[in-house]
Amino acid sequence: MDNQLQKDMWNGRAGASWVRHNSLLEELLSEPGRQCMALFDLPASAQVLDVGCGCGNQTLDWASRLDPSCTITGIDISQPMLALAEDLKSANQSSLQANVSFVLGDASESMFPEASFDAIYSRFGVMFFADPTAAFAQLRSNLKPNGQLGFVCWQSPALNPFFTAPMQAALTVLPPPPPAKPGAPGPFGLSDRERTYSVLSEAGFTEVTVEPLKLELSAGADRSFDDLFQELIQIGPAAALIAESDPALGEQAKTAVYETLGDFYAVGKGVRFEANFWLVSARR
Ligand SMILES: C[S@@+](CC[C@H](N)C(=O)[O-])C[C@H]1O[C@@H](n2cnc3c(N)ncnc32)[C@H](O)[C@@H]1O
Repeated sequence: MDNQLQKDMWNGRAGASWVRHNSLLEELLSEPGRQCMALFDLPASAQVLDVGCGCGNQTLDWASRLDPSCTITGIDISQPMLALAEDLKSANQSSLQANVSFVLGDASESMFPEASFDAIYSRFGVMFFADPTAAFAQLRSNLKPNGQLGFVCWQSPALNPFFTAPMQAALTVLPPPPPAKPGAPGPFGLSDRERTYSVLSEAGFTEVTVEPLKLELSAGADRSFDDLFQELIQIGPAAALIAESDPALGEQAKTAVYETLGDFYAVGKGVRFEANFWLVSARR
């Protein structure tokens, strides 16, 4: 099984949206990334891989925390997202300590020599594999003996109004998309805790832990709702549904989403969404 659909998506509309809204997404999502970083117990001169690094924000965050004897490599299938990652690297060079490099490629393929890394990290970048067990087995082989895998992913849509509130509003106007198969590649690809245990165990990992993390995501405290809405309406599954719909119905759906998202906004506080994640750790 290959990941061509995801390659098309992340080199197309989804990648363009993440590039365009990078600052807002980073404001919303930096905390789960930080909490995932805290899982790691790194050796001296650590070699770290950031899987599905996207626009590189987390890779660069690692590089500002690690010392110059360390290296951090970000890998991603999205050319436009990696282009922004390179720009951000250049713009933030003075704050970077560890060596940073970005690689364009599919992390589920044999991109690196066996046992290259002490740690493999990912914020929301490992839920898109067509064959998760094979992909994690590949990543495991990239780890040194006893190396650590740590990632953060979304729990079920029902526990994450950041996705479901705009979608439910859009669906009051638009026909629903075909139902996604449980565990299909996508933001909720690893939302089932038991399945994540079995995928990682079957891939050969040991000491697997999958712990819940509940946070409030917030952004835009100094922005008006209308200003924030112009960005929020272009992010996530509801945005994709609206983009593919009849334009007149799409406009009605945007109005419905506008009304719904207003409930998540307060002047001086911006938008706030309760969010539920899995923090996952495992050893080679
Ligand atoms: C939701 S985004 C997260 C990006 C980044 N980690 C962040 O948190 O800002 C998912 C990322 O995973 C990447 N991705 C999906 N499948 C991949 C694969 N097989 N190999 C490498 N990257 C992949 C996408 O291109 C995208 O950049």
